[in-house]
Amino acid sequence: MISREQEAFGVYVHWPFCLSKCPYCDFNSHVRHAPVDEERFVRAFTREIETTAARTPGRQVSSIFLGGGTPSLMAPQTVGAVLDAIGKHWSVAPDVEVTLEANPTSVEATRFRGYRTAGVNRVSLGVQALDDSSLKALGRLHSAREALDAVAIARTAFDRYSFDLIYARPDQTPAMWTDELKLAISEAAEHLSLYQLTIEEGTPFFGLHAAGKLKTPDEAMARALYDVTQEVCAAHGLPAYEISNHARLGAECKHNLVYWRGEEYAGIGPGAHGRLDIDGFRHATATEKRPEAWLMRVEANGHGVVTDDLLNSEERADEFLLMGLRLAEGIDPKRYAALSGRALDPNRIKVLREEGAITVDADGRLRVTQSGFPVLDAVVADLAA
Ligand SMILES: C[S@@+](CC[C@H](N)C(=O)[O-])C[C@H]1O[C@@H](n2cnc3c(N)ncnc32)[C@H](O)[C@@H]1O
Ligand code: SF4
Repeated sequence: MISREQEAFGVYVHWPFCLSKCPYCDFNSHVRHAPVDEERFVRAFTREIETTAARTPGRQVSSIFLGGGTPSLMAPQTVGAVLDAIGKHWSVAPDVEVTLEANPTSVEATRFRGYRTAGVNRVSLGVQALDDSSLKALGRLHSAREALDAVAIARTAFDRYSFDLIYARPDQTPAMWTDELKLAISEAAEHLSLYQLTIEEGTPFFGLHAAGKLKTPDEAMARALYDVTQEVCAAHGLPAYEISNHARLGAECKHNLVYWRGEEYAGIGPGAHGRLDIDGFRHATATEKRPEAWLMRVEANGHGVVTDDLLNSEERADEFLLMGLRLAEGIDPKRYAALSGRALDPNRIKVLREEGAITVDADGRLRVTQSGFPVLDAVVADLAA
């Protein structure tokens, strides 16, 4: 059995503020017109880290992810104080990966060196698109030039960086996307996150879409755009290691692998989720989402946790399947059987193999194929039934 020290343990820290709200985004992000009291947040983050660490003694932190919102609005000293608190209350692996999500504006890029000095060793930039009209339509505050300049600064400040693009945008064709993707790959070093535009309920895009004023690609076009993504990235040495994430071999985001491999992680800050193994049970935790309400809870109770559910074996196994099948490496069905107490149905596996949606390796690992990925939800539902 692998000892605790050798297992991955991630810490996610959520910074819930943005300069403006993008019309497609349903992340827990808020716009505030008065300055945010960062010192008060540092005190609250520190307390919640201390409380969470007391529930999970003996862990060694293998990855930290400062996500948002827009964490690049934090002062470097704020980031440094949060990282110090993590190092004080948990032990931290010598090769810890510390990622910070940044918006690619010129103002934010001026802080990159400060983040590196604070202990960040990887940035993930929300570039979203490489042409100005798309950026405007997405409600972004930066131009393509500014974003590429921020990428160039990231390259000088960090050994590791990644950026995000959103595709399957209105009126985007495979030819346009191919050109944009090739430009992105020439600017990317080792990692790219490529998300299909999702119309999220409750966002301005949802209303526009429902009213017929925002036309997204139909299923066939979305599929063609997805296929182009896989082909162009693989041909340039950035194959998908997860449904929306591409990396050179060995450059995968360690932190996100923690989620997809069903490993353990702590969620710190407003609206953060965690999965903690305590006394042999897996806890699914979530904190208060509203930033000021979260602050008050932490100040009163030492933590902002509002949900702390014990997952039963079936829930654990379903989550393992749902997350693990997103990965190109797939899952080990023996692990599924150990978690759920029952093996996956061989007949369902046979049918899905015949349909070309999954493969089973010689060593027994089960993987979703390129044609299975666009219908991943149906594949998972079928296997879990
Ligand atoms: C939490 S956001 C943070 C990044 C940072 N705040 C920014 O916008 O640059 C993470 C990524 O999710 C993606 N994303 C957010 N909403 C999306 C949507 N509705 N459809 C597709 N991708 C989305 C974007 O690519 C974004 O960069
Ligand atoms: S996409 Fe990023 S910047 Fe835009 S609202 Fe969401 S978290 Fe904030």
